[in-house]
Amino acid sequence: MKTIVINGGKKLRGEVVISGAKNAALPILAAGLLCAGKHRISNVPRLADVTTFGRILQNMGTSFERQDHDIIIDSTGLANPEAPYDLVRTMRASVLVLGPLVARMGKARVSLPGGCAIGARPINLHLMGLEKLGATVEIEHGYVVASAKKLRGAHIYFDTITVTGTENIMMAATLAEGETTIENAAREPEIADLANALIRMGAKIEGAGTDVIKIQGVTSLQPMDYIVMPDRIETGTFVIAAAITNGSILIKNCFPGHLDAVLAKVKEAGAEVVITGNTIHVIGKSQIRPVNIKTLEYPGFPTDMQAQIMSLMTLADGTSVINETIFENRFTHVAELRRMGADIEAEGRTAIVKGVQKLSAAPVMATDLRASASLILAGLAAEGQTVISRIYHLDRGYENIEQKLSAMGADIKRV
Ligand code: EPU
Repeated sequence: MKTIVINGGKKLRGEVVISGAKNAALPILAAGLLCAGKHRISNVPRLADVTTFGRILQNMGTSFERQDHDIIIDSTGLANPEAPYDLVRTMRASVLVLGPLVARMGKARVSLPGGCAIGARPINLHLMGLEKLGATVEIEHGYVVASAKKLRGAHIYFDTITVTGTENIMMAATLAEGETTIENAAREPEIADLANALIRMGAKIEGAGTDVIKIQGVTSLQPMDYIVMPDRIETGTFVIAAAITNGSILIKNCFPGHLDAVLAKVKEAGAEVVITGNTIHVIGKSQIRPVNIKTLEYPGFPTDMQAQIMSLMTLADGTSVINETIFENRFTHVAELRRMGADIEAEGRTAIVKGVQKLSAAPVMATDLRASASLILAGLAAEGQTVISRIYHLDRGYENIEQKLSAMGADIKRV
């Protein structure tokens, strides 16, 4: 089994270029199912999740070809509107094929994703939305079986804000008859990026990025040529890498405006942040101040950055309180950070982090994607050699992370 080995204590210095956003690329690939023809989607990160998504599309009869950071897909041959359990269980985002399949083929059979390391993560709201659009939805033998002769626009209210739920319904509604309104929609930048891709395909969408999205159904769409936005969570992870190593990193090709909440907290913790166009220069300081964090939907502090900022807080000069409001079980990194000498008490959705003078390297285990990132960050700052196992989680969401970190002076390698 592969591990990542880090000899900690090096200050990071240099530049890093941010990759395309995983959580924008996946729904945009799903949107490729909405019409026949060749789509070119650029700036797609090289990640295990993208490869898995490619397999799901190929299994349905769609061609999927990678040319460096471009993906060319053509769903002209779409014949089998099914996402099997074997593929879906490794990646929840597979559920994003549901809306496009029902809209284009009038039917879909998609495995229920089941729970995962961070919570139960039901998809009831995706299904409610499809039913409102006129689909019949049944659960049969662990699969969602949905069908509709013709989807019809509807008024859909989400009582919990859901990112992929909003995306699924937005995609389905593009080909529905009449107007759909999604209320209490997710406002994440990835929603707006998907909407821009759909608009490029000829969809009529207003309000993506706000909590009310209106979609006027069209009769057909055409293939897109689209460049995926930069990954804001990868960006945030490098912001913390600079702060936790007392280093100085110039982060290039990012959208700083997507990170207001993260940058505000990192500045409160004492780091210097200079934004110029599409770059962020982060200069760490030897003293890290404690800050309280509450994860929220965008534009609040992202749950996908909670584990990483917790690593930073383990070294703060005082106590921080971290409240996770999005997922019920997203503290699996706590036990691992404690093995490295962190002083953290977690109960329910709250963690109390008392800063320590130093972390000491230890063998640790990655438990999910963002937890893996938090362990890398802790390892960069710790004294001694940290060995992280189960790093396949990391490959789902961070492109070339060891290369990017070692180019800035980190002693990190995959063994
Ligand atoms: N929820 C429901 N019912 C639903 C859908 C969601 O109760 O039908 C609940 C969830 O259980 C959760 C909350 O709503 O408590 C928010 O979940 P959401 O649906 O927004 O999450 P998601 O769409 O499954 C996406 C990202 C996650 C990210 C979350 C929150 C993708 C592919 N995934 O998941 O990314 O944490 O939004 O921002 O976009 C990651 O990249 O590491 C990752 C987990």
